[in-house]
Amino acid sequence: MKIAIGNDHAGTDYKLAIMGLLKSKGIEVVNYGTDGTDSVDYPDFAHPVAKDIENGNVDMGIVICGTGNGANMTTNKYQKVRSALCWNKEITVLAREHNNANILSLPARFIALPQALDMVETFLKTQFEGGRHERRVEKVACR
Ligand code: RB5
Repeated sequence: MKIAIGNDHAGTDYKLAIMGLLKSKGIEVVNYGTDGTDSVDYPDFAHPVAKDIENGNVDMGIVICGTGNGANMTTNKYQKVRSALCWNKEITVLAREHNNANILSLPARFIALPQALDMVETFLKTQFEGGRHERRVEKVACR
């Protein structure tokens, strides 16, 4: 599995911890985020993640900013992206089972790090349920 990750200054600590977790599982990670804490603009780090999904370069994406909203809004501009802003485990499960989300957007300033790590693991292992959700997901992209 290959994952693209992007973050602004609000998400650097969480990104580094998530990268450690993913690498410990043998998952290849492409890091598009800032590794510093100087103020930067979240779209600059979210667009590359979305483009990798759009072009089929990676299996999944993770974006992180303070609220998760700015990064999520940016990634969802791409037709093949289904980016889900998640703030607890149950919503993360449903984002995969019902929405077949391919990007997880995390609000670093509103969730604890252990929770974020648990959500990442949950996102990666939870399968899309298909069935009635398949029809709905098919209707999400603009035609
Ligand atoms: C940065 O201060 C903050 O605006 C950003 O991380 C994010 O929350 C935007 O949606």
